[in-house]
Amino acid sequence: MSRSGMDHISLFCLNICLFCASSASPPNFVFLFADDLGFGDLGCYGHPSTLTPNLDRLAAGGLRFTDFYCTSPVCSPSRASLLTGRYQTRSGIYPGVLYPGSIGGLPLNETTIAEVLKPLGYATAAVGKWHLGLGANGTFLPTKQGFDQYLGIPYSHDQGPCQNLTCFPPDVKCFGTCDVDTVMVPLMYNEVIKQQPVNFLKLEEAYSHFATNFISTSVKKKQPFFLYYPSHHTHYPQYAGSGAAGRSLRGPFGDALLEFDNTIGNLLTTLENTGVINNTLVFFTSDNGPELMRMSRGGNAGCLKCGKGTTYEGGMREPAIAYWPGTIRPGVTHEMASTLDILPTFASLAGAKLPQVMLDGVDMTDILVRQGKSKRETMMFYPEDPSEKYGLFALRLGKYKAHFYTQGSTHSGLTPDHDCTVFAALKPHDPPLIFDLEADPSENYPLPLDDLQALLVNIKKVKEQFEASMVFGESQISKGSDPNLEPCCDPQCAPKPTCCLC
Ligand SMILES: *[C@@H]1O[C@H](CO)[C@@H](O)[C@H](O)[C@H]1NC(C)=O
Ligand SMILES: *[C@@H]1O[C@H](CO)[C@@H](O)[C@H](O)[C@H]1NC(C)=O
Ligand SMILES: *[C@@H]1O[C@H](CO)[C@@H](O)[C@H](O)[C@H]1NC(C)=O
Ligand SMILES: *[C@@H]1O[C@H](CO)[C@@H](O)[C@H](O)[C@H]1NC(C)=O
Repeated sequence: MSRSGMDHISLFCLNICLFCASSASPPNFVFLFADDLGFGDLGCYGHPSTLTPNLDRLAAGGLRFTDFYCTSPVCSPSRASLLTGRYQTRSGIYPGVLYPGSIGGLPLNETTIAEVLKPLGYATAAVGKWHLGLGANGTFLPTKQGFDQYLGIPYSHDQGPCQNLTCFPPDVKCFGTCDVDTVMVPLMYNEVIKQQPVNFLKLEEAYSHFATNFISTSVKKKQPFFLYYPSHHTHYPQYAGSGAAGRSLRGPFGDALLEFDNTIGNLLTTLENTGVINNTLVFFTSDNGPELMRMSRGGNAGCLKCGKGTTYEGGMREPAIAYWPGTIRPGVTHEMASTLDILPTFASLAGAKLPQVMLDGVDMTDILVRQGKSKRETMMFYPEDPSEKYGLFALRLGKYKAHFYTQGSTHSGLTPDHDCTVFAALKPHDPPLIFDLEADPSENYPLPLDDLQALLVNIKKVKEQFEASMVFGESQISKGSDPNLEPCCDPQCAPKPTCCLC
């Protein structure tokens, strides 16, 4: 984001004065993002053996969404949309995901939530999985995208060899091999590698400590804050330290989820003890659906069809909880909302200016604080590898979902439903397959189209209007990878990647 120094100063003054007049301080934001966690994975969404006492507490005291969507069935694009309020196709975070040596990343001229809040004097920190690029000399790290501080693994924790690493105490090796022929996953503080490979048994403790410390310090400085915590839990390979290992009924996935839940408990306690719990919006959701190919070590989409990698509901409809005692009334909402809406909503609640770009998100403050209606009427579904040639794979309009293309995915393999697996080849549907998601959330029964001609015309119109507004940004992921860009704690060592150990 480029803005002249002068603009910066005048914006800052304006907002300080706004808050003087109202004598209220702007709200703090804590955004919690789970990884590959499905619609059916939390206790409060009906999972029988999951143990998520703190998330269940947030749901009981907050607003639980039934119709909340991320924008992509895989990690990097979903994160790009969340942080920018724009479909990933605009920012170029497609096809697929970024790699440790990727040349591209989230373009620096995109405006992130952190950059929206910074001019109002917010302290900003990111902790956990970034996955929006590193680039040469850390060009694309969180500290270049509006975050004052960052602690984490800058991509997926399976994007480095893991077969000799310990994932559970006392010395249970990680399940599988993860990505071989690349550097061991590093733990970074800001732009510096602190540990390589990362110690999975101590990782969550480090994150929890960093995050609670960030909250306490910001409160002490009387600074409003934005904490972005994209967790590695519950992505493959699952790991957990001694506080959670073996403590859930659900095996490795359950233990990993419990460890994340424990940290959420620590964050809530810190918000209470520092006296800001009633002035903080805590929001939880997940980046995409469950990776069903991991079988019982993967997540669960509940009653929804398929999972990660697909544009069925299981790939992109997610659990979501908004918690803000005294401001958000406890309950359940069936209003449609999306990670795209987080940026405009936080901006609205903070009194921040929206970036002057084409936004796909809408302000959902009415849903949160007034039990109001959603301004969102549609949700667009792009596959893992969007292209201008195919365009949208599916579109939701009100309660109806139309599939123009369907396709299975490796990520959703090993399920009894053949539509989910990689053997379900790309299939066009003209006219589209239509489902009524209220009567049939599992997308089992395509509707007969005889009585739906008016709806079909409307869907076609909405699709055409949307696609006419879509300018695909230059693909950052197609720029490819350079092994020399993989982060190494000893840049001079040889031979890479195996020598990168500190
Ligand atoms: C960022 O810069 C690229 C390359 O100049 C341009 O195509 C794109 O539209 C810009 N994005 C924004 C959000 O301004
Ligand atoms: C990173 O920065 C250093 C020092 O400025 C420079 O020598 C090096 O070429 C840069 N590396 C890349 C990959 O651009
Ligand atoms: C893991 O350890 C085994 C046995 O020491 C070794 O042969 C193998 O190369 C190691 N693999 C990696 C990826 O480090
Ligand atoms: C938050 O609000 C509740 C209900 O009004 C009150 O009981 C509690 O003491 C408040 N907590 C803090 C830390 O201000």
